[in-house]
This record gives sequence, C-alpha cells and structure tokens, in this order.
Amino acid sequence: MKKTRSSLFLGGLALSTAAFLSLSAAILPRQEPADANTAKSEIMRPEDSKALKAIAASKAIYVGASKCKSCHNKDSMGKVYDKWTKMKHYSALENLKSEDAIRLGKENGIDKPWEADACLKCHITAYTEPAERRHKRFKMDKGVQCESCHGPGSLHVKARLKAAKEGIKGDKELIQIPEGEIVLPDEGLCRNCHNEESPSYKEFDFGERLEKIRHLHPLRKEPRVHPPKKDDDAQSSE
Ligand code: HEC
Ligand code: HEC
Ligand code: HEC
Ligand code: HEC
Repeated sequence: MKKTRSSLFLGGLALSTAAFLSLSAAILPRQEPADANTAKSEIMRPEDSKALKAIAASKAIYVGASKCKSCHNKDSMGKVYDKWTKMKHYSALENLKSEDAIRLGKENGIDKPWEADACLKCHITAYTEPAERRHKRFKMDKGVQCESCHGPGSLHVKARLKAAKEGIKGDKELIQIPEGEIVLPDEGLCRNCHNEESPSYKEFDFGERLEKIRHLHPLRKEPRVHPPKKDDDAQSSE
C-alpha cells in the first residue's frame, strides 16, 4: 500500500529506491482515522460481503445473460450487454483452452482446464450453486456472466417485465429498484474469485479493477459502488 501511495505522490519524479519510498511515506502527513473500524485501506473479504449474503438469501434463480439482453442492450440503457461481451469475464471459459491455461493446468496436475471443477468454479457463473438454483435453460457454456456479480436474476426479470407493461421502463428516467430484487456487487464479492486460490492471481486493487468494468446507466451521474475510503484519499482533491 505504501508503495502505491508514494509513487502517486512522486508522480513523474524518477526517485524509486525502496528506501526513499518508505521514507517519503513516513513523512507524508497522516490523517487520524475517524473510526477505528473503517480505518485505513483494509480490504473487504468475502466473509464480510453484503452482496454475497444478499445472494445467499435470494429466492431467485440463475437465468443467464441472454435474458438480460433485451432490456440492457438498448442504447438508452447503456448497452451493458455489448460492453460485457468485450470484457475478459465474457471469455473466461474460452480462455481455459488457451496455451497459458493449459500450462497452468499442467502445473496443477490438470489435463483439460475447460472441464475441471478446480478451474470452472471461478471461470463460469453459478458453477458451484446447486442445480435447482439454475433455470433449466441456463447454459454452462459461457464465462463470468452478469449474475456472477449481480446474483440470480429471475425475480428481477419478472418484476421488470411486469413494470414495463405498466409503462415503467427505466430508460427515460432512473428508477429505484427495490432492495433484494437484484444485487450490486462489492469488493468481497469480487474477491470470492479474485484471490490466491487462482493460479494466476494478481494483486487485486478493487478501485482500479472496478474502473475497468463499470457500466453506469447513461442517466446516472455518480457511481454507487466505491472502494472503501482510504486514509490517504482524504488528502486528495477528488
Ligand atoms: C424487462 C427488462 C429487464 C430485463 C429482462 C432485465 N432488467 Fe435489469 N433492469 C431493468 C430496468 C428498467 C432497470 C432500472 C434501470 C437501470 O438501472 O438500468 C434495471 C436495473 C438493473 C440493475 C441495477 C439495480 C439497481 O439496484 O439499481 C441491475 C444490476 C440489473 N438490472 C441487472 C439485470 C440482469 C443481470 C438481468 C438478467 C438476468 C436483467 N437485469 C434483466 C430492466 C430489465
Ligand atoms: C465468478 C468469478 C469472478 C467474479 C465474481 C469476478 N471476477 Fe473478475 N475475473 C474473473 C476471471 C476468471 C477473470 C479472467 C478472465 C480471463 O482472462 O479469462 C477475471 C478478470 C477480471 C478483469 C480483467 C483483468 C484486467 O485487469 O484487465 C477485471 C478488471 C475484473 N475481473 C474485475 C472484477 C471486479 C471489479 C469484480 C467485482 C465487481 C469481479 N471482477 C468479479 C472472475 C471473476
Ligand atoms: C479462485 C478462482 C479461480 C480459480 C480456482 C481459477 N481461476 Fe483462473 N482466473 C481467476 C481470476 C480472478 C483471473 C483474472 C486474473 C487477474 O486479472 O487477476 C483468472 C485468470 C486466468 C487466466 C488468464 C491469465 C491472465 O494472466 O490473465 C488463465 C489462463 C486462467 N485463469 C486459468 C486457470 C486455470 C487453468 C485454472 C485451474 C487450474 C484456474 N484458472 C482456476 C480466477 C480463478
Ligand atoms: C464483473 C462484475 C460485473 C459483471 C460481469 C456485470 N456487472 Fe453490472 N455492475 C457491476 C458493478 C460493479 C456495478 C455498479 C456500478 C456503480 O454504480 O458503481 C454494476 C452496475 C450495473 C447496473 C446498474 C447501472 C446503473 O448505473 O444504474 C446494471 C443495469 C448492470 N450492472 C447490468 C449488468 C448486466 C446486464 C450484465 C451482463 C450483461 C452485467 N451488469 C455484468 C459489475 C458487473
């Protein structure tokens, strides 16, 4: 953490010895955390994820991304489906056939990563869910779909189809979706897959990764999902 902060502060200066970095971190002014529980830049673990708890409690089932397309691929709704097809998540299953995947598989005693539970559990949506939680037409032939981040969508689809019949379509103005109908993810949810059990794990900076996948409604001015406040953020001029 210190490193990131220091290099941000130093910007283009070509001062990069570890000694200098830790020294500069030590002399930068520190904010006293207002609340010890939310102090500093602690990461949110899956055990503490509200999103994962909401998903566990939901009575909906997984229906698959094709069911989201009719509404969420309209221009007026931000073309989320098309955006998703350009994410690495979309091709996460296909990528298990890549040279890298085959090599990683070999290193872990696995012949065909694209058929192995040990890889599919994070590269496919709802893989570890009980079968009755997946719609009979839910196909396991796609990568990390919408419902990996938003939870099972059957009740949302039903509710929105009904609302649309009543003329409420959410494309000309923002509407409030009732809590529990569908989930917005948090850091702990991402870390359920982005963790050291992954053989190609790279450090997961929630704030940075979030920016790569965010897809706001065209009418929304401010994102609703944020990384936890860091004490060093308090200094920056956001
Ligand atoms: C019949 C149309 C329709 C379908 C089908 C549909 N949605 Fe939605 N959804 C909406 C509308 C309208 C909104 C409110 C506008 C918005 O936030 O984009 C919404 C909002 C959302 C939100 C934001 C929730 C919030 O708390 O603000 C998520 C996440 C979402 N949908 C995911 C999905 C997923 C995943 C699927 C497929 C499983 C899906 N939707 C299918 C119409 C639909
Ligand atoms: C179901 C497991 C799963 C969940 C949940 C998940 N991811 Fe991923 N993510 C993956 C996999 C697998 C890949 C790699 C796909 C590939 O390259 O084959 C990936 C790749 C990515 C990438 C692309 C790599 C890069 O940095 O360009 C980003 C960004 C990312 N995830 C962000 C997120 C964020 C943010 C969340 C939470 C909102 C999240 N992911 C939740 C499994 C998941
Ligand atoms: C705990 C969840 C998890 C498991 C289990 C898992 N992966 Fe992944 N995998 C990920 C995530 C998350 C990423 C995205 C990496 C990143 O950007 O941090 C990823 C990325 C990849 C990539 C892309 C590499 C890259 O550098 O972008 C390959 C290839 C891959 N995984 C293969 C495998 C294979 C093979 C297995 C089984 C032996 C496996 N994964 C098991 C979560 C997992
Ligand atoms: C890797 C995780 C991930 C995947 C996959 C994903 N989303 Fe999201 N989605 C998010 C996050 C994070 C947000 C919250 C954005 C914010 O407000 O900061 C979000 C927000 C949304 C919203 C609300 C937008 C708004 O501003 O009202 C909708 C609608 C939505 N997603 C639909 C979808 C659909 C449909 C798919 C699949 C085609 C999908 N998402 C795939 C992570 C994901």
